[in-house]
Amino acid sequence: MFTNVWYVAERSANLRTEPLKVRMLGCDFVLFRDQQGKAACLSNVCPHRGANLAGGKCRDDGTVACPYHGWRFDRSGNCVRIPAQSEPGHVELPQAKVDSYPVLEQNGLIWVFLGDDVDAAAPPFNIPEVGDHNYRQIDFDEIWNCNFERAIEIDLDYVHSHFVHGAWGEEHRARPPDHVVEDYTDSGFNTHIIAKSQPNRGLWRFLRKEGKGVPSYLSFKLPGFCRNVKVFIGGVGSKMHFVFYNFSTPIDDHHVQGRLLFFRSFMKPSFFDKTNIKRNERAMREDRKICEEIYPKSSAAARDWEVQTEHDHLVGAFHRILRSLRDKGWQIDAKATQDLARDNKPLMIPSPARRKTASGWVFPEVPRIAPQKAAT
Ligand code: FES
Ligand SMILES: [Fe+2]
Repeated sequence: MFTNVWYVAERSANLRTEPLKVRMLGCDFVLFRDQQGKAACLSNVCPHRGANLAGGKCRDDGTVACPYHGWRFDRSGNCVRIPAQSEPGHVELPQAKVDSYPVLEQNGLIWVFLGDDVDAAAPPFNIPEVGDHNYRQIDFDEIWNCNFERAIEIDLDYVHSHFVHGAWGEEHRARPPDHVVEDYTDSGFNTHIIAKSQPNRGLWRFLRKEGKGVPSYLSFKLPGFCRNVKVFIGGVGSKMHFVFYNFSTPIDDHHVQGRLLFFRSFMKPSFFDKTNIKRNERAMREDRKICEEIYPKSSAAARDWEVQTEHDHLVGAFHRILRSLRDKGWQIDAKATQDLARDNKPLMIPSPARRKTASGWVFPEVPRIAPQKAAT
Protein backbone atom coordinates (compact mmCIF):
# COMPACT_ATOMS: atom_id res chain seq x y z
CA MET A 1 0.00 0.00 0.00
CA PHE A 2 1.12 3.53 -0.71
CA THR A 3 1.17 6.90 1.01
CA ASN A 4 1.21 10.26 -0.77
CA VAL A 5 -1.77 9.39 -2.92
CA TRP A 6 -5.23 10.97 -3.00
CA TYR A 7 -7.87 8.36 -2.18
CA VAL A 8 -11.65 8.38 -2.37
CA ALA A 9 -12.54 8.00 1.30
CA GLU A 10 -16.34 8.15 1.11
CA ARG A 11 -19.29 9.34 -0.92
CA SER A 12 -20.49 12.81 0.12
CA ALA A 13 -24.02 11.59 0.74
CA ASN A 14 -22.83 9.24 3.49
CA LEU A 15 -21.17 11.97 5.59
CA ARG A 16 -23.86 13.90 7.40
CA THR A 17 -23.89 15.42 10.87
CA GLU A 18 -22.23 12.55 12.72
CA PRO A 19 -18.52 11.67 12.54
CA LEU A 20 -17.74 8.64 10.42
CA LYS A 21 -14.99 6.04 10.83
CA VAL A 22 -13.16 5.01 7.68
CA ARG A 23 -10.38 2.44 7.49
CA MET A 24 -7.73 3.00 4.82
CA LEU A 25 -4.16 1.73 4.41
CA GLY A 26 -4.58 -0.34 7.56
CA CYS A 27 -5.32 2.74 9.75
CA ASP A 28 -8.52 4.28 11.09
CA PHE A 29 -9.60 7.82 10.27
CA VAL A 30 -12.50 10.00 11.30
CA LEU A 31 -14.37 12.06 8.73
CA PHE A 32 -16.57 14.89 9.95
CA ARG A 33 -18.05 18.17 8.80
CA ASP A 34 -17.05 21.49 10.39
CA GLN A 35 -19.45 24.37 11.13
CA GLN A 36 -19.43 25.38 7.43
CA GLY A 37 -20.27 21.84 6.37
CA LYS A 38 -16.78 21.32 4.95
CA ALA A 39 -15.48 17.78 5.24
CA ALA A 40 -12.40 17.13 7.41
CA CYS A 41 -10.28 14.05 8.07
CA LEU A 42 -8.20 13.22 11.16
CA SER A 43 -6.55 10.09 12.43
CA ASN A 44 -9.11 8.37 14.62
CA VAL A 45 -7.16 7.59 17.78
CA CYS A 46 -7.49 10.13 20.59
CA PRO A 47 -4.01 10.96 21.99
CA HIS A 48 -5.43 11.14 25.54
CA ARG A 49 -6.46 7.56 26.13
CA GLY A 50 -6.91 6.16 22.68
CA ALA A 51 -10.68 6.50 22.33
CA ASN A 52 -12.42 6.18 18.98
CA LEU A 53 -12.97 9.79 17.85
CA ALA A 54 -15.56 8.68 15.31
CA GLY A 55 -17.71 7.55 18.24
CA GLY A 56 -17.89 11.18 19.42
CA LYS A 57 -19.84 14.19 18.22
CA CYS A 58 -19.49 17.10 15.85
CA ARG A 59 -19.69 20.34 17.86
CA ASP A 60 -20.94 23.71 16.65
CA ASP A 61 -17.44 25.23 16.84
CA GLY A 62 -16.47 23.00 13.91
CA THR A 63 -14.65 20.40 16.00
CA VAL A 64 -15.06 16.71 16.62
CA ALA A 65 -15.35 15.85 20.33
CA CYS A 66 -13.92 12.65 21.75
CA PRO A 67 -16.60 10.37 23.26
CA TYR A 68 -14.52 9.61 26.39
CA HIS A 69 -13.62 12.99 28.00
CA GLY A 70 -14.87 15.43 25.40
CA TRP A 71 -11.55 16.79 24.14
CA ARG A 72 -12.27 18.78 21.00
CA PHE A 73 -10.13 18.62 17.89
CA ASP A 74 -10.38 21.09 15.04
CA ARG A 75 -10.01 20.22 11.38
CA SER A 76 -6.24 20.84 11.62
CA GLY A 77 -5.96 18.16 14.30
CA ASN A 78 -5.25 20.57 17.18
CA CYS A 79 -6.93 20.01 20.51
CA VAL A 80 -8.71 23.32 21.13
CA ARG A 81 -10.64 22.42 24.24
CA ILE A 82 -10.34 20.10 27.23
CA PRO A 83 -13.68 20.62 28.95
CA ALA A 84 -12.59 19.24 32.32
CA GLN A 85 -9.67 21.60 32.78
CA SER A 86 -9.41 24.55 30.44
CA GLU A 87 -11.27 27.54 29.15
CA PRO A 88 -11.93 27.55 25.39
CA GLY A 89 -8.71 28.44 23.57
CA HIS A 90 -6.46 27.66 26.56
CA VAL A 91 -5.22 24.17 25.91
CA GLU A 92 -1.63 23.96 27.04
CA LEU A 93 -0.75 20.50 25.89
CA PRO A 94 1.05 20.91 22.55
CA GLN A 95 1.31 17.15 22.12
CA ALA A 96 -2.51 16.91 22.28
CA LYS A 97 -2.84 16.84 18.52
CA VAL A 98 -3.67 14.28 15.89
CA ASP A 99 -2.73 13.95 12.25
CA SER A 100 -4.94 15.89 9.88
CA TYR A 101 -5.18 15.18 6.18
CA PRO A 102 -6.05 17.40 3.18
CA VAL A 103 -9.61 16.87 1.95
CA LEU A 104 -11.29 17.77 -1.32
CA GLU A 105 -14.98 17.22 -1.90
CA GLN A 106 -16.23 17.25 -5.47
CA ASN A 107 -18.52 15.29 -7.78
CA GLY A 108 -20.20 13.65 -4.78
CA LEU A 109 -16.92 12.15 -3.54
CA ILE A 110 -14.76 12.93 -0.51
CA TRP A 111 -11.12 12.71 -1.52
CA VAL A 112 -8.49 12.47 1.23
CA PHE A 113 -4.76 12.83 0.74
CA LEU A 114 -3.00 10.21 2.84
CA GLY A 115 0.58 11.33 3.14
CA ASP A 116 2.97 14.10 4.10
CA ASP A 117 3.93 15.54 0.70
CA VAL A 118 0.81 16.83 -1.00
CA ASP A 119 2.73 19.01 -3.47
CA ALA A 120 4.49 15.97 -4.94
CA ALA A 121 1.29 14.04 -5.65
CA ALA A 122 -1.04 14.04 -8.67
CA PRO A 123 -4.23 15.90 -7.61
CA PRO A 124 -7.81 14.58 -7.84
CA PHE A 125 -9.54 15.07 -11.19
CA ASN A 126 -12.96 16.31 -12.17
CA ILE A 127 -15.69 13.90 -13.32
CA PRO A 128 -17.63 15.94 -15.90
CA GLU A 129 -20.46 13.40 -16.27
CA VAL A 130 -21.63 13.95 -12.68
CA GLY A 131 -24.68 16.23 -12.80
CA ASP A 132 -24.69 16.30 -16.64
CA HIS A 133 -28.27 15.69 -17.83
CA ASN A 134 -26.92 13.85 -20.88
CA TYR A 135 -26.11 10.93 -18.60
CA ARG A 136 -27.86 8.64 -16.20
CA GLN A 137 -25.65 7.74 -13.21
CA ILE A 138 -25.73 4.55 -11.14
CA ASP A 139 -23.39 3.88 -8.21
CA PHE A 140 -22.00 0.60 -6.90
CA ASP A 141 -19.97 0.13 -3.70
CA GLU A 142 -18.36 -3.16 -2.73
CA ILE A 143 -15.68 -4.48 -0.40
CA TRP A 144 -13.59 -7.31 -1.86
CA ASN A 145 -11.41 -9.63 0.20
CA CYS A 146 -8.30 -9.14 -1.89
CA ASN A 147 -5.33 -6.86 -2.18
CA PHE A 148 -6.27 -3.63 -3.99
CA GLU A 149 -3.72 -4.31 -6.73
CA ARG A 150 -5.61 -7.43 -7.79
CA ALA A 151 -8.86 -5.47 -8.21
CA ILE A 152 -7.06 -3.02 -10.49
CA GLU A 153 -5.20 -5.60 -12.55
CA ILE A 154 -8.39 -7.32 -13.65
CA ASP A 155 -9.79 -4.10 -15.12
CA LEU A 156 -6.57 -3.54 -17.10
CA ASP A 157 -6.67 -7.04 -18.52
CA TYR A 158 -8.50 -7.31 -21.82
CA VAL A 159 -8.24 -11.07 -22.18
CA HIS A 160 -10.04 -11.85 -18.94
CA SER A 161 -13.33 -10.49 -20.32
CA HIS A 162 -13.68 -13.43 -22.64
CA PHE A 163 -13.05 -16.12 -20.05
CA VAL A 164 -14.41 -14.54 -16.89
CA HIS A 165 -17.46 -12.87 -18.42
CA GLY A 166 -17.74 -14.50 -21.79
CA ALA A 167 -18.32 -17.52 -23.93
CA TRP A 168 -15.40 -19.88 -23.62
CA GLY A 169 -16.36 -21.67 -26.81
CA GLU A 170 -15.15 -18.96 -29.19
CA GLU A 171 -11.60 -18.66 -27.96
CA HIS A 172 -10.42 -16.78 -31.05
CA ARG A 173 -12.43 -13.82 -29.74
CA ALA A 174 -10.19 -13.62 -26.69
CA ARG A 175 -7.35 -12.19 -28.76
CA PRO A 176 -7.38 -8.42 -28.26
CA PRO A 177 -7.12 -6.07 -31.22
CA ASP A 178 -3.83 -4.17 -31.17
CA HIS A 179 -3.57 -1.54 -28.51
CA VAL A 180 -0.65 0.17 -26.84
CA VAL A 181 0.08 2.09 -23.67
CA GLU A 182 -0.22 5.78 -24.52
CA ASP A 183 0.71 8.95 -22.62
CA TYR A 184 2.45 7.06 -19.83
CA THR A 185 3.49 9.10 -16.80
CA ASP A 186 4.05 8.06 -13.20
CA SER A 187 0.48 9.10 -12.48
CA GLY A 188 -1.42 7.34 -15.24
CA PHE A 189 -1.74 6.20 -18.84
CA ASN A 190 -4.29 5.70 -21.59
CA THR A 191 -5.10 3.16 -24.23
CA HIS A 192 -7.78 2.75 -26.84
CA ILE A 193 -9.01 -0.31 -28.58
CA ILE A 194 -11.49 -1.00 -31.36
CA ALA A 195 -13.10 -4.34 -30.68
CA LYS A 196 -15.14 -6.31 -33.18
CA SER A 197 -18.78 -5.92 -32.24
CA GLN A 198 -20.74 -8.96 -31.23
CA PRO A 199 -23.44 -10.09 -33.67
CA ASN A 200 -26.50 -7.89 -33.18
CA ARG A 201 -29.24 -9.66 -31.29
CA GLY A 202 -32.48 -8.48 -29.70
CA LEU A 203 -32.67 -4.74 -29.05
CA TRP A 204 -29.19 -4.25 -30.45
CA ARG A 205 -30.52 -4.77 -34.00
CA PHE A 206 -32.16 -1.34 -33.70
CA LEU A 207 -29.37 0.38 -31.83
CA ARG A 208 -26.16 -0.67 -33.55
CA LYS A 209 -25.07 -0.93 -37.15
CA GLU A 210 -23.87 -4.44 -37.91
CA GLY A 211 -20.18 -4.89 -38.51
CA LYS A 212 -18.95 -1.63 -37.02
CA GLY A 213 -16.27 -1.91 -34.36
CA VAL A 214 -16.83 -0.89 -30.76
CA PRO A 215 -14.21 1.67 -29.71
CA SER A 216 -13.33 1.89 -26.08
CA TYR A 217 -10.97 4.20 -24.25
CA LEU A 218 -9.37 3.22 -20.99
CA SER A 219 -7.35 5.43 -18.66
CA PHE A 220 -5.65 4.50 -15.48
CA LYS A 221 -5.36 7.44 -13.10
CA LEU A 222 -3.27 7.25 -9.97
CA PRO A 223 -5.49 9.56 -7.87
CA GLY A 224 -8.06 7.20 -6.40
CA PHE A 225 -6.37 4.29 -8.22
CA CYS A 226 -9.06 4.86 -10.82
CA ARG A 227 -9.88 3.00 -14.01
CA ASN A 228 -11.86 5.23 -16.33
CA VAL A 229 -13.46 3.51 -19.31
CA LYS A 230 -15.59 4.93 -22.10
CA VAL A 231 -17.19 2.48 -24.52
CA PHE A 232 -19.00 3.60 -27.66
CA ILE A 233 -21.44 0.76 -27.45
CA GLY A 234 -23.34 1.73 -30.57
CA GLY A 235 -20.20 1.53 -32.71
CA VAL A 236 -17.83 4.05 -34.24
CA GLY A 237 -19.40 7.52 -34.43
CA SER A 238 -22.39 6.58 -32.27
CA LYS A 239 -23.64 8.87 -29.53
CA MET A 240 -24.50 5.83 -27.45
CA HIS A 241 -21.82 5.20 -24.93
CA PHE A 242 -21.28 4.29 -21.35
CA VAL A 243 -18.59 5.59 -19.07
CA PHE A 244 -17.40 4.31 -15.77
CA TYR A 245 -14.99 5.35 -13.09
CA ASN A 246 -13.90 2.57 -10.79
CA PHE A 247 -12.05 3.72 -7.66
CA SER A 248 -10.10 1.41 -5.36
CA THR A 249 -9.23 2.38 -1.82
CA PRO A 250 -7.13 -0.15 0.11
CA ILE A 251 -8.72 -0.87 3.48
CA ASP A 252 -5.70 -2.99 4.42
CA ASP A 253 -3.45 -5.48 2.64
CA HIS A 254 -6.28 -7.97 2.17
CA HIS A 255 -9.38 -5.83 1.64
CA VAL A 256 -10.27 -3.15 -0.85
CA GLN A 257 -13.19 -0.77 -1.01
CA GLY A 258 -14.41 -0.36 -4.57
CA ARG A 259 -16.60 2.54 -5.67
CA LEU A 260 -17.98 2.55 -9.16
CA LEU A 261 -19.69 5.47 -10.88
CA PHE A 262 -21.45 4.20 -13.98
CA PHE A 263 -22.97 6.52 -16.60
CA ARG A 264 -24.94 5.81 -19.75
CA SER A 265 -25.85 8.30 -22.44
CA PHE A 266 -28.81 6.28 -23.73
CA MET A 267 -31.96 4.71 -22.29
CA LYS A 268 -31.78 7.32 -19.56
CA PRO A 269 -35.10 6.82 -17.76
CA SER A 270 -34.62 5.03 -14.45
CA PHE A 271 -36.83 2.25 -15.80
CA PHE A 272 -33.76 0.92 -17.65
CA ASP A 273 -31.53 0.86 -14.53
CA LYS A 274 -32.54 -2.67 -13.69
CA THR A 275 -30.75 -4.18 -16.69
CA ASN A 276 -27.61 -2.11 -16.06
CA ILE A 277 -27.55 -3.00 -12.39
CA LYS A 278 -28.02 -6.69 -13.07
CA ARG A 279 -25.28 -6.76 -15.71
CA ASN A 280 -22.80 -4.78 -13.61
CA GLU A 281 -23.47 -6.81 -10.51
CA ARG A 282 -22.92 -10.03 -12.38
CA ALA A 283 -19.64 -8.77 -13.87
CA MET A 284 -18.45 -7.61 -10.45
CA ARG A 285 -19.35 -10.96 -8.91
CA GLU A 286 -17.37 -12.79 -11.59
CA ASP A 287 -14.31 -10.51 -11.23
CA ARG A 288 -14.51 -10.66 -7.48
CA LYS A 289 -14.40 -14.44 -7.37
CA ILE A 290 -11.23 -14.49 -9.48
CA CYS A 291 -9.53 -11.76 -7.41
CA GLU A 292 -10.42 -13.21 -4.03
CA GLU A 293 -9.04 -16.63 -4.97
CA ILE A 294 -5.71 -15.53 -6.47
CA TYR A 295 -2.63 -16.72 -4.62
CA PRO A 296 -0.66 -14.97 -3.25
CA LYS A 297 -2.99 -12.19 -2.14
CA SER A 298 -0.55 -9.41 -2.88
CA SER A 299 0.65 -8.95 -6.44
CA ALA A 300 3.89 -7.42 -5.11
CA ALA A 301 4.77 -10.86 -3.76
CA ALA A 302 4.22 -12.42 -7.19
CA ARG A 303 5.86 -9.92 -9.50
CA ASP A 304 9.18 -11.76 -9.57
CA TRP A 305 7.73 -14.94 -11.01
CA GLU A 306 4.49 -14.20 -12.88
CA VAL A 307 4.81 -15.16 -16.53
CA GLN A 308 3.98 -12.12 -18.64
CA THR A 309 2.73 -12.11 -22.23
CA GLU A 310 2.43 -9.37 -24.85
CA HIS A 311 -1.16 -8.85 -23.69
CA ASP A 312 -0.17 -8.02 -20.13
CA HIS A 313 1.32 -4.67 -21.06
CA LEU A 314 -1.36 -2.56 -19.33
CA VAL A 315 -0.89 -4.51 -16.12
CA GLY A 316 2.85 -4.03 -16.65
CA ALA A 317 2.38 -0.26 -16.96
CA PHE A 318 0.39 -0.28 -13.71
CA HIS A 319 3.20 -2.16 -11.96
CA ARG A 320 5.67 0.39 -13.33
CA ILE A 321 3.67 3.14 -11.62
CA LEU A 322 3.73 1.18 -8.37
CA ARG A 323 7.50 0.81 -8.69
CA SER A 324 7.85 4.56 -9.16
CA LEU A 325 5.89 5.12 -5.94
CA ARG A 326 8.13 2.65 -4.13
CA ASP A 327 11.23 4.35 -5.55
CA LYS A 328 10.02 7.62 -4.06
CA GLY A 329 9.87 5.96 -0.64
CA TRP A 330 6.07 6.05 -0.42
CA GLN A 331 5.32 2.34 -0.06
CA ILE A 332 4.28 1.15 3.39
CA ASP A 333 6.60 -1.56 4.70
CA ALA A 334 4.04 -4.29 5.37
CA LYS A 335 6.40 -6.58 7.24
CA ALA A 336 7.84 -3.88 9.52
CA THR A 337 4.30 -2.64 10.17
CA GLN A 338 3.21 -6.12 11.27
CA ASP A 339 6.21 -6.39 13.60
CA LEU A 340 5.45 -3.03 15.20
CA ALA A 341 1.75 -3.80 15.47
CA ARG A 342 2.65 -6.60 17.87
CA ASP A 343 3.74 -3.87 20.34
CA ASN A 344 0.16 -2.60 20.29
CA LYS A 345 1.11 1.00 19.63
CA PRO A 346 -1.06 2.67 17.00
CA LEU A 347 0.82 3.68 13.86
CA MET A 348 -0.22 6.73 11.86
CA ILE A 349 -0.04 7.63 8.21
CA PRO A 350 2.25 10.69 8.31
CA SER A 351 0.34 13.90 7.59
CA PRO A 352 1.72 17.11 6.02
CA ALA A 353 2.20 18.68 9.50
CA ARG A 354 4.86 16.05 10.30
CA ARG A 355 7.10 17.48 7.57
CA LYS A 356 7.04 20.84 9.36
CA THR A 357 7.26 19.49 12.90
CA ALA A 358 8.72 16.03 13.15
CA SER A 359 8.66 15.84 16.94
CA GLY A 360 5.92 16.05 19.54
CA TRP A 361 3.64 13.41 18.07
CA VAL A 362 2.16 10.88 20.45
CA PHE A 363 2.04 8.08 17.87
CA PRO A 364 4.80 6.99 15.48
CA GLU A 365 4.46 6.86 11.70
CA VAL A 366 3.92 3.70 9.72
CA PRO A 367 7.31 2.50 8.46
CA ARG A 368 7.90 3.00 4.76
CA ILE A 369 10.33 1.20 2.45
CA ALA A 370 13.41 3.32 1.89
CA PRO A 371 13.83 4.59 -1.70
CA GLN A 372 15.52 2.02 -3.93
CA LYS A 373 17.25 4.55 -6.15
CA ALA A 374 19.61 7.28 -5.09
CA ALA A 375 18.06 10.66 -5.76
CA THR A 376 19.48 12.13 -8.96
S1 FES B 1 -9.67 9.48 25.48
FE1 FES B 1 -10.26 11.11 24.23
S2 FES B 1 -10.61 12.72 25.59
FE2 FES B 1 -9.95 11.11 26.83
FE1 LIG C 1 -14.08 -7.98 -15.48
